[in-house]
Amino acid sequence: MYKIAVIPGDGTGPEVVREGLKVIESAADKFGFKYETKIFDFGGQRYLKTGKTVDDCDIKELQEYSAIFLGAIGHPEVKPGILETGILLKLRFALDQYINLRPVKLYNAEFCPLKGKNPQDIDFVVVRENSEGLYKGMGEFKDKGTKDEVAIQLSYNTRKGVERCVRYAFEFTRKRNKGRKLTLCGKTNVLTYAWDLWQRVFNEVAKDYPDIATDYAHVDATTMWFVKNPEWFDVIVTDNMFGDIITDLGAMIQGGMGIAAGGNINPQGVSMFEPIGGSAPKYTGQNVINPLAAICAAGMMLENLGELKAGKAIEDAVIKIAGTKLKSLAAGKMGYSTVEVGDLVVKHL
Ligand code: IPM
Ligand code: MN
Repeated sequence: MYKIAVIPGDGTGPEVVREGLKVIESAADKFGFKYETKIFDFGGQRYLKTGKTVDDCDIKELQEYSAIFLGAIGHPEVKPGILETGILLKLRFALDQYINLRPVKLYNAEFCPLKGKNPQDIDFVVVRENSEGLYKGMGEFKDKGTKDEVAIQLSYNTRKGVERCVRYAFEFTRKRNKGRKLTLCGKTNVLTYAWDLWQRVFNEVAKDYPDIATDYAHVDATTMWFVKNPEWFDVIVTDNMFGDIITDLGAMIQGGMGIAAGGNINPQGVSMFEPIGGSAPKYTGQNVINPLAAICAAGMMLENLGELKAGKAIEDAVIKIAGTKLKSLAAGKMGYSTVEVGDLVVKHL
């Protein structure tokens, strides 16, 4: 019996989560697994009412769950930063979800903004470090508000933190067994402390994986190649900030935020799965947002729980629908409503 914590969150989060849960229910029927859910009301609404984001008590409760399914966090009436650090980053850090796994896969050439690229050209995975780097929030102001002000923002990289991420990426590349190639994406030519450590750890760990080809690309060149030669990539490992940036570009070349899913993974603990896109306030309540990203996140969650067949079936159904039914992956342009897209996935499972 899986215990799934559900955080619908803000904006269109609840709408896409509803479709994700619909698909999980149908998959449970077909593949014979059992689960129960509990809804957690973290988000902008609750914050505006109570001033609460996520506290240690919430974390303790979540630790008892098999996985977390998250919609979106972000509210137009809450100052940027509060919900992001108080909810999303708090969950990632407190549950030590040190991997952010973001597959970039094109399901339909028509939805790709790149000329001449097909589904076989765009199929790679970014392993983003999810617990350190610039996201650690270390730094300070000096002489704040004066002409001589200095703002310092530090990137914090520990040997252990880098090594567990790099090791996960090598293991993942081996298990994926597609190109058997792992690319380190960094900036060794400028950020000479952090990326010196990353490069050394990467080279060392690589010795344990002689069956995996290795490569290195600067982050700026990586963005160029995402557009020019995305077929060069199999698995990419990178730090928190670079991973954040390149996966938005990754989402675009796979067809947009409507289809991009990710997992915040603690291989020994509680992992959390989410569509990469935000809360999309302007589409809230209109039944027009694309739920496929949330449905893909649900599929990743089931796969991570060990329900490999269910995960695969969900992905296959999404491929079918994105490949043949939808006019577009963008909100309001799909040719179907949010609820209808969820129904279509269930029908094709
Ligand atoms: C993401 C988001 C978050 C991040 C924000 C909302 C804090 O952009 O999941 O990529 O920067 O990690
Ligand atoms: Mn991001």
